[in-house]
Amino acid sequence: MCGIVGYAGTAPANGTSTAAGHQALDVLMEGLRRLEYRGYDSAGVAVVANGEIAMRKKAGKLANLTAELAASPLPDSMTGIGHTRWATHGGPTDKNAHPHVVDDGRLAVIHNGIIENYAPLKAELVYQGHTFISDTDTEVAAVLLGEIYRSLPADESADGARLTRAMQLASQRLEGAFTLLAAHAAHPGTVVASRRNSPLVVGLGDGENFLGSDVSGFIDYTRRAVELGQDQVVTITAATVAITDFRGEPAEGREYLVDWDAAAAEKDGFPSFMEKEIHDQPEAVAQTLLGRSDIDGKLTLDEMRIDADVLKTVNKIIVLACGTSAYAGQVAKYAIEHWCRIPTEVELSHEFRYRDPIVDDKTLIVSLSQSGETMDTLMAVRYAREQGAKTVAICNTNGSTIPRESDAVLYTHAGPEIAVASTKAFLAQITAAYLLGLYLAQLRGNLFQGQIKDVLADLAKVPAKIAQVLENDQQIKDLARSMADTSSVLFLGRHVGFPVAMEGALKLKELAYIHAEGFAAGELKHGPIALIEEGQPVIVVVPSPRGRDSLHSKVVSNIQEVRARGAKTIVIAEEGDESVRAHAEHVFYIPETTTLLAPLLATVPLQIFACELAMAKGYDVDQPRNLAKSVTVE
Ligand code: AGP
Repeated sequence: MCGIVGYAGTAPANGTSTAAGHQALDVLMEGLRRLEYRGYDSAGVAVVANGEIAMRKKAGKLANLTAELAASPLPDSMTGIGHTRWATHGGPTDKNAHPHVVDDGRLAVIHNGIIENYAPLKAELVYQGHTFISDTDTEVAAVLLGEIYRSLPADESADGARLTRAMQLASQRLEGAFTLLAAHAAHPGTVVASRRNSPLVVGLGDGENFLGSDVSGFIDYTRRAVELGQDQVVTITAATVAITDFRGEPAEGREYLVDWDAAAAEKDGFPSFMEKEIHDQPEAVAQTLLGRSDIDGKLTLDEMRIDADVLKTVNKIIVLACGTSAYAGQVAKYAIEHWCRIPTEVELSHEFRYRDPIVDDKTLIVSLSQSGETMDTLMAVRYAREQGAKTVAICNTNGSTIPRESDAVLYTHAGPEIAVASTKAFLAQITAAYLLGLYLAQLRGNLFQGQIKDVLADLAKVPAKIAQVLENDQQIKDLARSMADTSSVLFLGRHVGFPVAMEGALKLKELAYIHAEGFAAGELKHGPIALIEEGQPVIVVVPSPRGRDSLHSKVVSNIQEVRARGAKTIVIAEEGDESVRAHAEHVFYIPETTTLLAPLLATVPLQIFACELAMAKGYDVDQPRNLAKSVTVE
């Protein structure tokens, strides 16, 4: 989820910005500033000037690049590309920052996405004699593009037809998700780009044209945009925009007028980062799944640097996390135990080391942390390592402290999560934890490969199902707004629905400052049912009727129990489950999926409910009171 900008302008007469064009660097830095929310591990720019590529890049925030440019300015130019990185392959360092410059310094490339087949391509290019500087999949794409470019006949065309052809051919070789931008010293007025499974938008100017990972990359210069389709290549010059497919056949983009202001553009047009990130969830799950299995469906977790023989001896798993991440761990526990038959405990990090836990070299610690900086979890991981345990970090922030201090890491690829209350990271954490569980089951032989492929196939359908829930969110939004004066809400769930109920309650607490409590539905009769009185809202997460029948029927009974005592019952159920209608004032249906994958869908209406109710109360859903995005103190 990186930020990308490209620019091709008309050379101004006197070397300064004129109506006909801007200095490429000014456009690039303004665009990167607006795109920094998409990634801020590192940033870089490259321009074409005086027959050369001039490039600067720095790890860290955009300010570091700005300082670098002040100390070592770039020459004037009308053509350039820029990038802010959210690291996936390779840590956030100077050498891993984009652009990557290859072909004897004449070709600069930037990339957003994950190239799944970078390893075999890299081996092929090494065999051809190429060497690599970085640990990134992007450099592999850059070297491949340079190799193909050199193999094509030279051309004197002003629009860089040779670079366009090279991009088309290179794109045919790449698998996974990518938006690539390239600029070449031999084509001073041209930027070429390609996209598959990763966004790219063209900005149409007057005597200048732009590229962006989203419109905020060029919103300050034009509101005329063209959205590119799947598997398309676009070549921009100051005066032209040419779109083709990967074979070189002419293609069309969708032209539209951007009606957002610049601030809204950074949120993809949503009023808040919270709403944007709720809607990012299909991509967050899809990106987390990407590149984690080979063409035979075998899981390949290349960041898992714990020896397979060690993982085979593991006889206990302890998940360490806080808050929403701990609820993700509780969901994952059901799946990991079911698939791997390894006892799995989920511990709140801040409780773990004070209870004198039983940890040894056969214990696998799995930490879950969006930020990778939560001090409670970091201290718990350190404690477990001192006891001899192996540690795996599931984390959304590349290069953060917890992964750095762990034996292995499994990054979620949800992209930067700006809103303080966690949403897309929660779904991505569950997805990554499921991949870890399936990997262990594959390694230890608990599941047949066909069973693993079936789960992966079901997981692959989840992003579209999340999108379906998001497309039908008006009913739950209307209910939330009608409940703005509610003073308390109870949430019930069983099995994997129990941590979902807990997470739904936490969202409502965090965003709407309403007392909310999640319970295991079976626990109701052991005390909490005393809370039920006339009109008490109770949200119930109902498992699929196609799953364990006892689970479903017991939860329906729980709904009847609270309804009989006056509760206002609000039910999340699977499409087609008519059995709940008679007992619910409101039913919100989610698409069919397997019991273990249901949390990835059932959570979404609860997030929307909490967000909408908070907005109805006029609260700031991005920065709720008293909260911090990362709790870096114990
Ligand atoms: C999530 O909505 C909360 N803001 C909070 O509970 C968060 O999940 C918790 O602090 C853990 O953060 P981490 O995932 O960055 O470790």
